[in-house]
Amino acid sequence: MKLISHQTNCLSGEVICPGDKSISQRILIIGFLINCNIKISGFLDAEDPNSTLKALKRIGASIHKDDEFVYLNKIKNPFKSPIEKLDLGNSGTGMRLILGLISGLGINATLIGDKSLSKRPMSRVIEPLKAMGVDIKSNNGVAPLKILGGNILNDFKYEMPIASAQVKSSLILAALSSNNSITITEPKTTRDHTERMIEYFGGDIQYGDKNNKGVIKLNTRKLKPAKSYNVVGDFSSAAFIIVAALISSESEILIKDVGLNPSRSGLLEILILMGANIQIKNKKTVCNEEVGDILVRSSSLQGINIPEDIIPNIIDEIPILSIAAAFAEGNTCIRNAKELRVKESDRINAISEGLKKLNINHKVFDDGLSIVGTNNLINCNEEIDSFNDHRIAMSFLIAGIRSIDAVKVKNCVNIETSFPLFKDIMNSLGMKINE
Ligand code: S3P
Repeated sequence: MKLISHQTNCLSGEVICPGDKSISQRILIIGFLINCNIKISGFLDAEDPNSTLKALKRIGASIHKDDEFVYLNKIKNPFKSPIEKLDLGNSGTGMRLILGLISGLGINATLIGDKSLSKRPMSRVIEPLKAMGVDIKSNNGVAPLKILGGNILNDFKYEMPIASAQVKSSLILAALSSNNSITITEPKTTRDHTERMIEYFGGDIQYGDKNNKGVIKLNTRKLKPAKSYNVVGDFSSAAFIIVAALISSESEILIKDVGLNPSRSGLLEILILMGANIQIKNKKTVCNEEVGDILVRSSSLQGINIPEDIIPNIIDEIPILSIAAAFAEGNTCIRNAKELRVKESDRINAISEGLKKLNINHKVFDDGLSIVGTNNLINCNEEIDSFNDHRIAMSFLIAGIRSIDAVKVKNCVNIETSFPLFKDIMNSLGMKINE
């Protein structure tokens, strides 16, 4: 599917931020593990969380949805080896977290995914899970993954070679579901939604400031049921709206109920350093996650060197940050972001290919990009390829705001994986995106 995005000066209005993808997947998995009746509000009804939902149903979960809520129901014998393969679609989070869960439950299953997911590295989770005692077969480190049971070691200690919340969460879930303790050290702080959720449900977990920075320690203790859970808004989706307002000339938007977990919202810090006019209002805590409203106005941005330590906390926002950089004065340099090469697409390559079509000067490194911004409107005659990557597609559609004619982006269907309402929400704020 191709989408076309036209020049826009003024964006205005209020929107409620769609539910967080990472948290929507985690609440299904952890809620299923607790095996209680729980009503979930704010769930992101998109392809990635829905792939996780379907996979959990196949291993015994009883889940149903209506227009407003998702209901997880308590059942008698919850965990069973599925007959069919579990298809996690495009979702790296779904595959890696469910791999951990199933490893700990001691059931057998085969996990598969779409073309992109079938190329993504799984050894980063398979190796530590094998060291924990699980028998897993893969196709040379990629899916299909066959989980063949085993016995998880207690008190396993693991030093993660890469900063990855998916790896961390997979191992935590393996320990949690097999009722074992684990200690994990991460090289840099990554998103801590799993830890926060376990704490919310009464688990014995130390992480973040309460512990040595970078060390996560889960002790054995059963989680307690709760009647409801509220998923906060997805900062990564809000990021597209924020940058759209910043790079247009006369905009003011209020985005409500956005998740502001510091391990996720590093982009705010970066944009403010670049000169963005952003205010946070109504900050509160919901289900152990920080949340607030973001008021954003058109701003003149300056290029900066992105501090390398913040990269894991802006990893999903680098495509849209590159668009902000393309319209900032001077140079923006993003390094130490090699993980971008193994996301839904090789995002360093995908960003570069798109910037070329926008005639934006930039340099490519093995681990990042350096982008020279322009104050002018851009002329984009050729179609941009999203490489079937939702965040690449949405980022270049936002760039259309500063185009002379329009920006055309092909292969946009995967926007459905994380932000199905993207086109409708952006158009309701004043953008002009059409097919
Ligand atoms: C996610 C973690 C990140 C992120 C992904 C979602 C999660 O991946 O890129 O979109 O939900 O844990 P890594 O942990 O592999 O960096």
